[in-house]
Parts: sequence; structure tokens; C-alpha cells
Amino acid sequence: MTSEYHIPVLVNEVIHYLLTGSDGIYIDGTLGGGGHAESIMSRLSEKGRLIGFDIDEDALQFSNKRLKKFGDRVIYIHDNFSNVRNVLNDQGLSEIDGFLLDLGVSSHQLDVKHRGFSFQSESRIDMRMDQNQSFDGWKIINTYERTKLAEIFKKYGEERHSWRIAKKIVDMRNKKGINTTGELATVVESITGARFLKKSLARIFQAIRIEVNNELENLHQALKNILDVLIPGGRIVVISYHSLEDRIVKKFLIENSLKFHLAPHKYLLDTPIKPKLNILTKKPINASFDEIQNNPRAKSAKLRAAKRI
Ligand SMILES: C[S@@+](CC[C@H](N)C(=O)[O-])C[C@H]1O[C@@H](n2cnc3c(N)ncnc32)[C@H](O)[C@@H]1O
Repeated sequence: MTSEYHIPVLVNEVIHYLLTGSDGIYIDGTLGGGGHAESIMSRLSEKGRLIGFDIDEDALQFSNKRLKKFGDRVIYIHDNFSNVRNVLNDQGLSEIDGFLLDLGVSSHQLDVKHRGFSFQSESRIDMRMDQNQSFDGWKIINTYERTKLAEIFKKYGEERHSWRIAKKIVDMRNKKGINTTGELATVVESITGARFLKKSLARIFQAIRIEVNNELENLHQALKNILDVLIPGGRIVVISYHSLEDRIVKKFLIENSLKFHLAPHKYLLDTPIKPKLNILTKKPINASFDEIQNNPRAKSAKLRAAKRI
């Protein structure tokens, strides 16, 4: 039952960087199929606890079954990981030992046709991680103005035909509407041609997904909020799958590990500041050849970790 839902990536590396002791309180901000959570829990003592977040109720239900054996030492939270500080407050907790984010969607979310995440299956253009949310991909494709569509394709998909694709979408939706992933794919194909279609579709779908789920802003917020609740020595571990996410993580880690504010002029002295983080991964950690052979999704994974000072 476990591997069908989602194969967790870089499990040994997550354990290595995240766990500092067996009695701690850890947060898994992205429970998904509970693979990382299970590895974490199996290393914690009876005192250790895990607080698992997911905005997708399916993921919570699945991981709840998988992690039943750990009883009430796992707490399940149906909320956005960006709300981590408020949730901890509600739980009466002010400090934690480690925070894990394994970003993006799970294989299960991609595989379930009606969720509309994949351009390889036909469904309504949905892409909501949180099924209680009303804003979805259909609304973006059918209501956003051309300039706004082009902007998100460029910003979140880094697609060079953004403007032409956006124009074609607006033309097509005025004629007969664009309701399904297949209809959207046909519009994209009419601009990019068959040769580059897969790559363009991946970029356009990524852009819509990021916009629907407010993914980059959530990541920003979570990183900002977690600094206040990590104990000294506590760890942040983030696995990202594309350059937009990785850039945010890298910038955050660098900014919070600086020991000086650079002076605005070369004759002025830099001002010393107290860094909040110590970066543990000089370069991002990638999956090994063997792991990628076994799980192609691991190919784009990049893990970065830091320690609270
Ligand atoms: C890559 S999967 C995690 C897989 C998990 N590490 C495992 O071992 O199975 C990402 C999960 O994070 C959830 N997610 C994404 N953004 C979220 C957010 N802002 N708040 C809470 N959950 C989120 C998704 O719904 C998805 O289930």
C-alpha cells in the first residue's frame, strides 16, 4: 500500500540532517504518503513526537492509516504549512526541534486523473491541493486577462512563448471555452508544435499549479515563521523540485546566515550581526544514480539544510 501512493526521496539524507535526538518534537510540513514521517517516527523514542501537516485531506487520511502504529505521538493537521506558528500556538507548543518540507505534489496527486495536475490525462483543469478551496486552474484559464496569464507563464513556468500562448488561450476560450487539460494541451501545441510540446506543457502546468496553490508565497511564509520556533541547534530541511523553489530556499538560508550587514560605501565598515542559521549543505544534496533509477522523480530533487544558532 505504501509505495503506490508516493515514494519518498532522499530518506537517509533527510534523517541525517533533520534529527538531532530521539526525544524531540519534529514537524513534517508535507506529510503526503507519510514516507518521510514513518522513517522519522521509527527513530524517535516514546517521548518523541511528530506534527504532520497537509492541505490535502486524501494525504492526511492515507498517512493516518500508515502511521497508526505510532498512536497519538503523531498529530495530524489539515492546514497550510505557512500557518505553522499559529498551529503550534493552538497545540500549546512554543518550540520544536526540526522542520521538514518536501515540496510540490505527491505522485498520488499526479496520478489521480480528476485532480487535473497532469497533462498526460484528461480532466477538468483543477490542480487544487486543498479540495476545499474554490479557486482552481479552470478559473485561471477562463477568467485571467491575457497579460496576467502571460505573466504567470513567464514568472512561474519560465516559458518563452508565454505571450503567444496566453493570447491563444484568450482567443480559444472566447470561441468555445477551455475546460479540460486536453483542450489546454491542444492550445499549447498550436503554438509550440509537437517537438517541444512536452516541455512547454510541463512549464505551463507548473505555472498554473503554483498560482492555484500560492506555492512560492507559502514557502516564503513558512521559512520566515519557522525561525521563531526552532530551538538552538534545531534543523530546517527543505527538498525542492524546481529552480523557483530552490532559489527561495537558498536566498533565505544565505540571508539568515550572514555575519555582517554590508556597508553601503567602501570606506564604511560592515556592521556585524548575529546570524540565525548555520548552513549545513554548502551545495544542495542530489539523489544518487541508484535512487534515480528506482524513482525518476528523485532526479530533480535538491535538499538544503540548516541549523538554528
Ligand atoms: C511531495 S509530497 C510529500 C511526500 C512525503 N514527504 C512522503 O514521504 O510521502 C508534498 C505534499 O505536500 C502537500 N503540500 C503542498 N503544499 C502544502 C502546503 N502549503 N501546506 C501543507 N501541505 C502542502 C501536498 O498536498 C502533498 O501531499
